[in-house]
Amino acid sequence: MSKLWGGRFTKPTDKLVEEYTSSIGFDVKLALQDIKGSLAHVDMLGKCKIIDENEAAQITEGLHKIQQKIENGEVEFSVADEDIHMNIEKLLIDEIGPVGGKLHTGRSRNDQVATDMHLYLKEKTQHFIQLVEAVQKSLTEQAEQHVETIIPGYTHLQRAQPVSFAHHLLAYFWMFERDKERLKDSLKRIDWSPLGAAALAGTPYPIDRKMAAETLGFEHVYPNSLDAVSDRDFILEFLSISSILITHISRLSEELILWSSQEFNFIELDDAFCTGSSIMPQKKNPDVPELLRGKTGRIYGNLMGLLTLLKGLPLAYNKDMQEDKEGMFDTVDTLDGALSLLAPMLSTMEVKSANMRQAVNEDYSNATDIADYLAVKGLPFRDAHSVIGQVVLYAINQEKFLLDLTLDEYKQFSELFEEDIYEKLAPDHVVAARASEGGTGFEQVKEQLSLAKNHLS
Ligand code: ARG
Repeated sequence: MSKLWGGRFTKPTDKLVEEYTSSIGFDVKLALQDIKGSLAHVDMLGKCKIIDENEAAQITEGLHKIQQKIENGEVEFSVADEDIHMNIEKLLIDEIGPVGGKLHTGRSRNDQVATDMHLYLKEKTQHFIQLVEAVQKSLTEQAEQHVETIIPGYTHLQRAQPVSFAHHLLAYFWMFERDKERLKDSLKRIDWSPLGAAALAGTPYPIDRKMAAETLGFEHVYPNSLDAVSDRDFILEFLSISSILITHISRLSEELILWSSQEFNFIELDDAFCTGSSIMPQKKNPDVPELLRGKTGRIYGNLMGLLTLLKGLPLAYNKDMQEDKEGMFDTVDTLDGALSLLAPMLSTMEVKSANMRQAVNEDYSNATDIADYLAVKGLPFRDAHSVIGQVVLYAINQEKFLLDLTLDEYKQFSELFEEDIYEKLAPDHVVAARASEGGTGFEQVKEQLSLAKNHLS
């Protein structure tokens, strides 16, 4: 079969070259965007009298037929036709005859492929905003149930101070809120139309770029044709936003894995989200959060891949840029799966409040509060810290927790201790006392929760 660009050539393309340079194996994912772009282009060509309006109508009809066939799975794409753009053009010419060849007037595959990618990422970004929000919704629903559930808070993975479990979950809510904001903000930069930049320099035809952009729902047109066809920043930005987002998913997954372990035993993931072992009958493995954590690597890799791909490229289009797609598609698919699983997994997890409470009862995470107790009574905090360090050491040696020490034992360390120390050390009091703005105090967490809910649409 002859190539659409075959005129200048005297030999057929080497078979290996054909396979090596072809992108149809993956850019087939852009088929519908490609048709959409072509429909807007041909409509503009007709309205601007660059081609006959009747011809434009025939091309439009042909494109609709091809779209139907693609949607019905009736089309076989060919490696010989290199990529999705030339495959569709070829199908069009087969469908409606030589007039189909007029579609490519005043454009190039360079602005065409860039347009397809803008359309694709715009749709995906809007989709991801919804998916992130579904995760946030699961978090707020769990948080709502667990404002008064107390869990040890950690630093260095050592018990630090008790916190409301809702507070812990809402920390992730705000991470995802920033991700959502970043996705929304990136739409501003995706919403530019490269169409009409043609190969690199624009075109002598009297095209109307704004008209085509408007049909496609783009807010702006790129003001520089070289930039329009060379820019892949919008993909880079998507990949970096995705990298930050998967980092959050990975950190949360790590906690779910830890909490599901027998050592923590704070939560149990629903059976539907776990798998078993082929040899150890007792096992219930948190495969889903493990994979979410594991998938982080490829998402970072895709970002590094594209950064490296672009760093030395001269203007304008270079074939290297065909390599921008697989990483992007992979990130889209990976993230789609991750977010779609995370939301129901969070909603269905069982929270073992009693175990969390027991953990808090059996640690020294109320030590700061005794230091604060002495500080309130006038001892400089630094001295109070040192006194309590000795109290804790004493308690550990006695195999007691701080609530188990008698008042006499406390008084050995400071005369400032009174009976009210016990009430101050109770976990509920310790949590409630952190009533500073954004703190874990129950009232503050309730306020935070309603603030969070206001961010959901
Ligand atoms: N398949 C190509 C890509 O994805 C389309 C653009 C080809 N342009 C060209 N001048 N060869 O980059």
